[in-house]
Amino acid sequence: MAIMNQSIPELESYNEADLERAFAALQDEVRRESNELRSIEAVEQFHLRWLGRKQGRLNLIGEAWRRMAPAESMKPLGIRFNELKKMLISEIEVAKAKAILGPIAEGLPSEEQANLVTFAKRRAGLSPIDITLPGTVRAPGIPHPLLKTMNEIVAVFHHLGYSTALGPQVESDFYNFEALNFPPNHPARDTQDTLLLAGQQAKPSRDRLLMRTHTSPVQIRSMIAQAPPIRIVVPGKVHRNDAADATHSPVFHQVEGLCVDTNITFSDLKGTLDHAMKALFGSSVKTRFFPSFFPFTEPSADVQISCIFCSGAGCRRCKHSGWIELLGCGMVDPAVFASVTEARRKLDPADDAYNPEKITGFAFGMGVERIAMIQHGISEIGHFYSGDMRFLEQFA
Ligand code: PHE
Repeated sequence: MAIMNQSIPELESYNEADLERAFAALQDEVRRESNELRSIEAVEQFHLRWLGRKQGRLNLIGEAWRRMAPAESMKPLGIRFNELKKMLISEIEVAKAKAILGPIAEGLPSEEQANLVTFAKRRAGLSPIDITLPGTVRAPGIPHPLLKTMNEIVAVFHHLGYSTALGPQVESDFYNFEALNFPPNHPARDTQDTLLLAGQQAKPSRDRLLMRTHTSPVQIRSMIAQAPPIRIVVPGKVHRNDAADATHSPVFHQVEGLCVDTNITFSDLKGTLDHAMKALFGSSVKTRFFPSFFPFTEPSADVQISCIFCSGAGCRRCKHSGWIELLGCGMVDPAVFASVTEARRKLDPADDAYNPEKITGFAFGMGVERIAMIQHGISEIGHFYSGDMRFLEQFA
């Protein structure tokens, strides 16, 4: 290392005037040396020579001058050494910047030189703020793809005159099962499928709380609260004790629909859902209805749409059937109207609003994840919940 010739200047005395003179001489020395610096290497040598941790000149002089100092001189000495250190640091910065600029700066007016030095310092990372860098860009928020699809589905029904109804995720057995005509020992009530809240055993069965397994309980809540006609869509989160895999998640989303009025027929159900599927997947999509079973609809059907990937020709996505199963539906079972009537008569014993001789209705329910996955060709349900920006940004 080129730390030689480390002669320590003499300090006459510790009085103010002598300190002043001694430090002024050191500053001169620093300035003279730093003016000679032409290369980054030279600046680094200079840095080491003056500020090196052990053999640095500042350190050596400091040690020597402090050794003899009377107690009351320690503070003024300290202040001056700090100032000198600050000066050294700034000289080093400027010298580095000048070394980087090289001859470019020479001969320019001093103001422009100063600008160039500032610029060079930023280039060299010597300034914490680089105004030449692009700013931090905050991406504008976008609706999550699931919410986007959910809103799309809801909007299709809003255009048909439906309004939105919502219900709680923590639901009672009554709304989730009993009033929907699930018999007491129906397997769906089993803990196999349903997440039950703890500590409910002391309550009567219908009052026990659980996480709703579908959005259908909002059918019951809405009918108890309101006489027909009813046309509602119910978007919401539902929970099932399912293992997660590529297409299942224990928490997912549904959109439920309910229409109750005089003279509502299965044709209305078919027409409504055929329209909705065309609105969601394109007007060339075909629908077909397959017999199915739900305790709260009779008759019940599963709705399939012609495969949007192969237009019905058969492909991997539709398991070579040409059709994709999308939702469940059916005509509201009179047993459901009976539970609603029973509940409404607690408030008005003469209530007859949901007399199945006078009114009929249909209901349907669809999984939002499934529809969004088909819309966008997503093969892993987990992407929706991962928060991975690479996935989410594709929907911006
Ligand atoms: N609630 C049913 C489910 O979760 C779907 C459904 C809703 C079926 C309305 C018929 C009528 O699977």
